[in-house]
Amino acid sequence: MRSLFVVIFFLGALSVFDADACFSSQEPPKIRIINATDPQAFATPGFNFSDPEGSAYPPDTICQWSVFVDPGTVLQLSFFNFSVEYTTDCNEESVTVYDGSDDSAPLIKTLCGELGDVVPDPITSNGTSLFIRFVSNDDDLQLKGFLARVGYPLEVTACDRTGPQVFTRPEGIFATENYPVNYGNNELCEYLFQAPEGKVVHIHFSEFELAQDCNDDWLDVYDGPSAAHGAFGGRFFAAMRPPKLVSTTNNVYLRFESDNDQSNSGFYGFYEFVSA
Ligand SMILES: *[C@@H]1O[C@H](CO)[C@@H](O)[C@H](O)[C@H]1NC(C)=O
Ligand SMILES: *[C@@H]1O[C@H](CO)[C@@H](O)[C@H](O)[C@H]1NC(C)=O
Ligand SMILES: *[C@@H]1O[C@H](CO)[C@@H](O)[C@H](O)[C@H]1NC(C)=O
Ligand SMILES: *[C@@H]1O[C@H](CO)[C@@H](O)[C@H](O)[C@H]1NC(C)=O
Repeated sequence: MRSLFVVIFFLGALSVFDADACFSSQEPPKIRIINATDPQAFATPGFNFSDPEGSAYPPDTICQWSVFVDPGTVLQLSFFNFSVEYTTDCNEESVTVYDGSDDSAPLIKTLCGELGDVVPDPITSNGTSLFIRFVSNDDDLQLKGFLARVGYPLEVTACDRTGPQVFTRPEGIFATENYPVNYGNNELCEYLFQAPEGKVVHIHFSEFELAQDCNDDWLDVYDGPSAAHGAFGGRFFAAMRPPKLVSTTNNVYLRFESDNDQSNSGFYGFYEFVSA
């Protein structure tokens, strides 16, 4: 679910042939520089977003991406739909990842293989940059390639009970504390989504399992920055997963409360800021 969201979310930003990054072995090398302070996506040439299964990268192609984030930001690389010709040493076709801005940096990993729905684990940089190189050979076996996302880690931001958890990134994931392990009793968790002016907030709950009894635990969703603003569809409890919500302003406030009795796995969802 998480992966699917990312793929859908980034479709608009992607190009099918990455002309700034890719070249044949007869051509001078290229490197596309990507600022991933706001997360970005890139893909092997020929990657077809509407039909990943029908994708095929060209033979004899090299692509190089040098990705950085501004200081203070963690950089993570995640792959989707990874499929590159397998050899035991990955010495025919490969994806190599270095822990720096070029290939003089320490090698983190060399990847190849057809992994189907299983994808390589995300790779986190030690510093603020990663260098990624894709190489295809000149035989006839061209596979699907990959779609990748670079940017801050898609980690779950949970409740910390010290006040509202404020979300200002353009997209992300939120959840109850300890999700998917049961949340605690007597919790008050507040989530405040603050989109820039001119944008609205889309909220999609993937999972929603609160205590059976509506008097025990509940979630209130407000179309504005605090509980003083209009509620969206009232109170949500038990297995009453809220529908996809689209705010009318640039803020959404969620307030989750649990009592001293019963608990459940809680909720988990995605948000994104979208131009109004
Ligand atoms: C990278 O992108 C961020 C966010 O868009 C921007 O604030 C920053 O200035 C950019 N950094 C560089 C070096 O271009
Ligand atoms: C991508 O896949 C769709 C659906 O199969 C197909 O209609 C389209 O022509 C493909 N695009 C390219 C560029 O191959
Ligand atoms: C592509 O990746 C998405 C997201 O991970 C997944 O749902 C889909 O099954 C994958 N498709 C193929 C053909 O590997
Ligand atoms: C990160 O870089 C520092 C400084 O070069 C090094 O001491 C440390 O071992 C590196 N950590 C990892 C996990 O590679």
